[in-house]
Amino acid sequence: MKNRLLDSQRRGGDVSLRVAVVGSGPAGLYTAEALMKQATGPVTVDVLERLPTPYGLVRYGVAPDHTSIKSIAGYLRGVLELPDVRFLGGVEFGKDVDAADLLACYDAVVYCTGAMVDRRMGIPGEDLPGSVAATDFVNWYCGHPDVPADRFVLDSSEVAVIGVGNVAVDVVRVLAKTAEELRATDVPEEVLRRLAASRVRTIHMIGRRGPEHAKFTLKELRELGELTNADVRVRREECRADVTAASRQVRGNVEVLQSWAARGLAGRPRLVDVRFWMRPVEILGEGRVEALKLERTRLVEGRVTGTGEFETLPVGMVLRSVGYRSVPLPGVPFSESTMTVPNEAGRVRDREYVAGWLKRGPTGVIGTNKSDAAETVRTLLADLAGREPVRHADLDDLLAARGVSPVTYEQWLSIEAAEAELAKSLDRGERVKLLGLAAMLTACGR
Ligand SMILES: Cc1cc2nc3c(=O)[nH]c(=O)nc-3n(C[C@H](O)[C@H](O)[C@H](O)COP(=O)(O)OP(=O)(O)OC[C@H]3O[C@@H](n4cnc5c(N)ncnc54)[C@H](O)[C@@H]3O)c2cc1C
Ligand SMILES: NC(=O)c1ccc[n+]([C@@H]2O[C@H](COP(=O)([O-])OP(=O)(O)OC[C@H]3O[C@@H](n4cnc5c(N)ncnc54)[C@H](OP(=O)(O)O)[C@@H]3O)[C@@H](O)[C@H]2O)c1
Repeated sequence: MKNRLLDSQRRGGDVSLRVAVVGSGPAGLYTAEALMKQATGPVTVDVLERLPTPYGLVRYGVAPDHTSIKSIAGYLRGVLELPDVRFLGGVEFGKDVDAADLLACYDAVVYCTGAMVDRRMGIPGEDLPGSVAATDFVNWYCGHPDVPADRFVLDSSEVAVIGVGNVAVDVVRVLAKTAEELRATDVPEEVLRRLAASRVRTIHMIGRRGPEHAKFTLKELRELGELTNADVRVRREECRADVTAASRQVRGNVEVLQSWAARGLAGRPRLVDVRFWMRPVEILGEGRVEALKLERTRLVEGRVTGTGEFETLPVGMVLRSVGYRSVPLPGVPFSESTMTVPNEAGRVRDREYVAGWLKRGPTGVIGTNKSDAAETVRTLLADLAGREPVRHADLDDLLAARGVSPVTYEQWLSIEAAEAELAKSLDRGERVKLLGLAAMLTACGR
């Protein structure tokens, strides 16, 4: 009903400001919200999303057992329910529409497509089967339609996770927990079955610098020490650090790690082996990953430098959790050095703007995108103040002519309802993710 009213308003040639937001993650939806809050006149926002589902990494990134963070989706839902905001799922920028199309239909476009691709380490063996980007593994356990459920078989007893950021901690925790502990989450049923069959016993988490340089946050680190199914091992000699002048966060991390180094192992079924001052130099194996060669490091003039002392871990899988990067959008400026869209306070060029990870790189928590989006919207509204609309086309007509029928907000609600129904039938938590685009589209009657 809401969308129908909006459609008739739009077709009636009203003079409200019309903005297209590309991407429905936190940045896109905070942008839509900021437009509603900051605009002094009428404004309508269409949020275009390549998937049939909104919320970006809140749905397909935030770890399934972090239910309180996942509940941010409830707040973002409120944005999609604002009367002048419309969700158009299943519309991909670069495939279904391009910048010229959107600039013909809207007064301004805000790109918020995030940073969906893994960074590379640039070492030999990185492309061996069993060397996996954390992005793929996260997508797998989150049920992202880009990664099929049969993508992973956890048949190695030892695995390595490279990187000591919060994504690495998420991946380690999911590998360390029992399937039973994840049963009440929204992990797809087939993924849960594969986690239940996991033969993983030791998970090495590898930091190329010291504990004082680790990127994880204290709350997330502490959770590793509270696992009921896994011990944590830290080597005393690897977590020595002078942190007297460091931030509270860094001091906290180091203190927690040092306390783990001082305590014994309790004999739990799995082991999380946290390493520092070790960098991966080669992934070894005939036809698939059989081992990971590490080199001890030290800092020389602030740079990570090898010491020539090596160690080889007998791992069957290497998960590279060394950060994300954005991909260029066709026809939109992109800096290959920063892997972001160059901008001034969100302005890319006339009537084109950017927000979120695509604007500033893959850093910060969900809330960081709110102030980031607010800045972009301030720039946009100041630029467009007093301007006559130049748009002359209608996106609905354009999509219809191309045979693209967007997934509406109401249809997304049907997908949500089907996920709740599935959870009930399986006697699991609030929802269980549907696997694959076909299942989602069937759930919304398409
Ligand atoms: C694994 C992981 C776990 C995280 N966990 C937490 C956490 O627990 N707490 C926390 O505070 N932060 C967490 N973060 C960080 C948080 O998710 C990000 O700050 C936030 O999602 C970035 O928002 P965004 O909108 O820029 O990007 P995204 O959330 O990635 O949203 C981008 C959206 O654009 C869509 N899109 C992409 N390309 C196109 C296209 N061509 N056309 C149309 N649509 C497109 C995508 O499908 C997606 O929906 C996590 C990040 C990761 C990677
Ligand atoms: N619960 C949460 O709040 C939560 C959960 C998940 C993600 N997030 C956020 O999402 C963002 C992305 O997280 P992230 O973990 O992907 O990235 P990140 O915080 O940037 O961590 C990347 C890690 O990879 C290491 N690394 C990079 N290149 C490497 C290489 N070539 N070899 C070995 N190690 C390498 C980095 O080490 P160096 O420091 O030495 O470069 C760092 O430890 C962060 O802002 C994070 O806080 C938050």
